[in-house]
Amino acid sequence: MKDKICLITGANSGIGKVTARELAKKGAHIIMLCRNEQKAENAREDILRVCGHDKVDIVLADLSSTKQIKEAAAKIRSEYPRIDVLINNAGMIMGNDRETTEDGFEWTFGVNHLAPFLLTHLLIDKVLASKKGNIITVSSEAHRFANFDLNDLQMQRKYNGLKAYANSKLCNILFTHELAKRLKGTQTVSNTLHPGAIASNFGKGVSGFFGFVMKLSRPFMISEEKGAETTIYLASSEEGYTANGLYFKNKKPASPTKVATNDYNARRLWEVSEELLQVKFSPVKHKAAEG
Ligand SMILES: NC(=O)c1ccc[n+]([C@@H]2O[C@H](COP(=O)([O-])OP(=O)(O)OC[C@H]3O[C@@H](n4cnc5c(N)ncnc54)[C@H](OP(=O)(O)O)[C@@H]3O)[C@@H](O)[C@H]2O)c1
Repeated sequence: MKDKICLITGANSGIGKVTARELAKKGAHIIMLCRNEQKAENAREDILRVCGHDKVDIVLADLSSTKQIKEAAAKIRSEYPRIDVLINNAGMIMGNDRETTEDGFEWTFGVNHLAPFLLTHLLIDKVLASKKGNIITVSSEAHRFANFDLNDLQMQRKYNGLKAYANSKLCNILFTHELAKRLKGTQTVSNTLHPGAIASNFGKGVSGFFGFVMKLSRPFMISEEKGAETTIYLASSEEGYTANGLYFKNKKPASPTKVATNDYNARRLWEVSEELLQVKFSPVKHKAAEG
């Protein structure tokens, strides 16, 4: 991992922070993309204390804002020659009141799916500029509880926080599936994973039934260190650079649901995401443009 440039979203806490720290310890140059400056600085100091070098940078962006994602991507594009590993890790779950982002997207869909889609689109040529690019998106076994409806991706008809989360994690797998297809013939791969049920900050602010279940389950959950293992594996093992379009669990390829690997679903989700974000995301064209 020495001198590989790794961008990790949500790197100030939970498995994102552990991933950043462990990859930094392996010699990687880390870019932490976080929304809260103070939390990011604190995490950076913790990482610097143990990693043995000072290549740990912070870029600020709230992933619920396409404006901030675009500004962060522009900064990254101007300051770094390439991105070797892009880790779409940030994610959250909301309660049962449907909320929308400043762009008008249903919050969970916006932050957990549209944000990594947009960020990856804006940085894809920097990843393709790596000799061996690697795009990792953190999904979840929660995708098994999804009610995927291409005509109501933002759950305008019937909203439920848990379902919105499950749907967004399904979108992570569909996104990876389609991205991997579009990356064929390049030196970049894209995989996704379930990290385990982790005793992190995840879901802490959520009240109601889910909050109650999370509190009860906490003693049985795995540590953040254990939860980060599969992401770190994909970022640093040989298999992480040869596998493409796979879903990993416990550092091994696993089978997601059929809905999550359905070609039609993946292509339509991609097209709808392009429409919503008003972008055209064609990874291979980028490669061709580069020569
Ligand atoms: N915990 C689990 O049991 C579990 C299970 C399966 C999958 N996952 C997935 O694992 C990933 C990491 O979760 P975790 O357990 O490490 O949770 P965590 O400790 O809550 O970390 C989540 C990270 O995402 C960031 N984030 C959330 N919303 C953001 C936004 N709008 N803009 C920028 N950053 C934002 C958080 O920033 P702040 O600190 O500023 O809030 C934090 O850094 C998520 O994608 C989650 O879906 C978790």
